[in-house]
Amino acid sequence: MSTPTVLCALDDIPDGDSIGFICESPDGRRAFLVVRSGDQAFVYVNSCPHIGSPLDFEPGQFLNLEKTHIMCSTHGALFEIADGHCISGPCAGKGLEKVSTRIVDGKILLNH
Ligand code: FES
Repeated sequence: MSTPTVLCALDDIPDGDSIGFICESPDGRRAFLVVRSGDQAFVYVNSCPHIGSPLDFEPGQFLNLEKTHIMCSTHGALFEIADGHCISGPCAGKGLEKVSTRIVDGKILLNH
């Protein structure tokens, strides 16, 4: 059985905020973003479905000012935090690539 990949501890992310990672995964080196909401963590590949650029212009800043949605800093697309669905912008109707994770003992682990 392989050792699970730990992204971070849930408490490394302020509640209602986000953080970014570059991490080794079974698919190779990938950039992820994590949004924390209470005891939940929503994890996506850090790549906008519009043209594939990273979503954060300022490293680690993935949310709009109101912190209600994930926002792409390149052209302002907005995504639902819970499912990554794009609700406005040039890629409306598409979605972020969700990353399967679980939380064990307060740590966010990638599901392999
Ligand atoms: S690259 Fe994200 S909206 Fe254009």
